[in-house]
Amino acid sequence: MEFIFWEWVNTLARWLHIVAAVAWIGSSFYFMALDASLRKRPHLPQGVQGEAWQVHGGGFYNMVKYLVAPSQMPAELTWFKWEAYTTWLSGFFLLCVLYYRGADLLLIDQSVMALTQWQAIGLSVGLLAAGWIVYDLMCRSPLGRHNGALAAVGFVFLVAACWGTTHVFSPRGALLQMGALIGTMMVANVFLLIIPNQRKVVATLLAGGTPDPSLGKAAKQRSMHNNYLTLPVVFLMIGNHYPLTYATRYNWVIFALILVVGASVRHFFNIKHTGKPAPWWAWGVAAAGIVAAAWLSAQGSADGGPAVGAASATPATFAQAQEVVMNRCSMCHTASPAWDGINAPPHGVILDNPGDILRHADDIRRQAALSSAMPPGNVTLITPEERAILAAWSAGAASPHMASASVP
Ligand code: HEC
Repeated sequence: MEFIFWEWVNTLARWLHIVAAVAWIGSSFYFMALDASLRKRPHLPQGVQGEAWQVHGGGFYNMVKYLVAPSQMPAELTWFKWEAYTTWLSGFFLLCVLYYRGADLLLIDQSVMALTQWQAIGLSVGLLAAGWIVYDLMCRSPLGRHNGALAAVGFVFLVAACWGTTHVFSPRGALLQMGALIGTMMVANVFLLIIPNQRKVVATLLAGGTPDPSLGKAAKQRSMHNNYLTLPVVFLMIGNHYPLTYATRYNWVIFALILVVGASVRHFFNIKHTGKPAPWWAWGVAAAGIVAAAWLSAQGSADGGPAVGAASATPATFAQAQEVVMNRCSMCHTASPAWDGINAPPHGVILDNPGDILRHADDIRRQAALSSAMPPGNVTLITPEERAILAAWSAGAASPHMASASVP
């Protein structure tokens, strides 16, 4: 019963998290594009940045943006905040249910840093808070007045933080921590800056005063940061299902490249929507970044396993590979797992007999030969030499022709 309960809690929380994030990111894309498409027209009232015409859902919309605020408070005002809050609340809930509850497998790797469950949780929560504090101080400092310089320093800060977390948590835990850290920065922007600033403007208007324009400017800056971070944060959230992205040697460099790739793609659209010549070079940067990330992901596992080319140089027999799998994998990947807290073969993957091991050659290659995703947190202490055996065997077994040849 308990197993079913947690399965459903997990499923529903993830559903909510994705739906909320889709709504939030959708509104971020929409408002950035709307802002970019605003055009000045002679008939517009004073204090209006511009107008835009849109067609959707069987009707025409005439959008007008009042910079700072309209001269009078409208009777009804729609706020955009619950998409962001729901995304964070459901995300933090998932972090607790999966990564904190299962810290021994997903967050901690004793060979990276010997941590207890509570130490790992404390560090993770502390880093989420610290990430926001450092970023917020940066924006408020004189640096905050120069968008380019702020982006460069912010980038270096995030990459340094990623490098640091890979020396604290398991590779998977580290990259997810960075996703959560960026997501927290983005939601805190909404909760602690954008919405409070807008509330101040509304309060001033209601009191008959003139709102401070710097409040709106700061809010716009944070909402632009959020927009540039949307694509990287989504990559980090799905990346934990793709071991080559997080459990290989240069995972923190891949993280840096994904920041650049995601921001470049956003930049392309943000400029294109203004009607200026589209910066096509951004796609060149993105493509180069992906090629570099793919190449780096083939350079061996995060714990010193072999690079793709090096692996096939030393051949390994199926018997050798099977021995590694039986020693390091089968206690969990079997009909009734011997690992406390694992009640069924994880993801239905069984690795306790030759036929299943062979059938999963590709999965073994991805999870345990070229990356160190498995065993989780390296709880069964697989060695780089053993990963080399799995890499050499699976390089051949992965092709159907060789697979039949290597059946014992
Ligand atoms: C301590 C228990 C444990 C050990 C030991 C272990 N695994 Fe896993 N394995 C898991 C868990 C838990 C998951 C599910 C992870 C998740 O939810 O993303 C998993 C998932 C997998 C998957 C499916 C991944 C996917 O995304 O579909 C493969 C393949 C796999 N393991 C291979 C291996 C191999 C190969 C080894 C040995 C080198 C190994 N595992 C050792 C617990 C273990």
